Amino acid sequence: MKLDSVLISDAVDPACAQLLRENGIQVTQKTKMPLEELLDEIKKHDGLIVRSDTQVTKQVMGNLKVIGMAGTGVDNIDLAAATKKGIIVMNTPGANSISACELTCALILDLARHVSPANSALKHGVWERQSYTGTELYGKTLAVLGLGRIGRQVAKRMQAFGMKTISFDSMISSEAAREFYVEKMELEQIWPLADYITVHMPLIPQTKDLINFDVLNKCKKGICVVNVGRGGIVNEEGLLKSLESGQCGGAALDVFTEEPPRSEGLLRLLAHPKVLATPHLGANTTEAQKRVAVQIAGQFIALNKGSSLSGV
Ligand code: MLT
Repeated sequence: MKLDSVLISDAVDPACAQLLRENGIQVTQKTKMPLEELLDEIKKHDGLIVRSDTQVTKQVMGNLKVIGMAGTGVDNIDLAAATKKGIIVMNTPGANSISACELTCALILDLARHVSPANSALKHGVWERQSYTGTELYGKTLAVLGLGRIGRQVAKRMQAFGMKTISFDSMISSEAAREFYVEKMELEQIWPLADYITVHMPLIPQTKDLINFDVLNKCKKGICVVNVGRGGIVNEEGLLKSLESGQCGGAALDVFTEEPPRSEGLLRLLAHPKVLATPHLGANTTEAQKRVAVQIAGQFIALNKGSSLSGV
């Protein structure tokens, strides 16, 4: 397939554009475009590279031949529409897994030891020790929902803190899970055992609202939830209700159903004192961004040269 021109519509590392240009492909990089401008711009290109910000709807696809995700999750791309239009969709699975894993671990530690709220209080002049008394991770149970590239690495690292790791993953056998020292269980078995739940699954109909008010009620009082996966796997309304009732003991959220969050319900959730929130930073490290940029550019160049395809 011959590619003439590629639009990069999100903040992808400049290495991507540079590599494409060095290989004779024209590149335009324009981010944060209003829809009208994007629709106008897309007409000039046969390739599009995005991260999770651009919503690649059927309308946006125009006459594209290929869409590249400089990352893993492709829920912002209408795959059914792309398939119907014969558009190739590629991603870079694995290139940012370690970064997503490390942020997850940082958030679990932060929930346990209140690093962020204590830091914020001290910077506002409040020297407060008692209310920031934490809990040890040692001996606690971490439920890793989704034992793919990221989930496995999270389990491995948190085991070093003495956490027991249990998991649900319909794609993985108990034997395979055991290789990572993780015990595979059904969801209903997991709820009453977990002290922390972290989700590492794609957002698909089967995982939407997986963690909701009723599920949280089946967990131990004080259950902590981490979502560095995708907004929507944890039902935000149910989570807020559970936090307000005291059943949920804390939540760390990097992803939201609306990014950036603007709705009243989401702003209330963010404002809850037991919520730690970061602006979709899972893949935001220098290393991961360079890796995804180089990898997706390489895939486009290979496609342009007529070699093999990889990704979705
Ligand atoms: C991913 O799915 O790899 C990330 O969410 C992409 C991003 O950081 O935008």
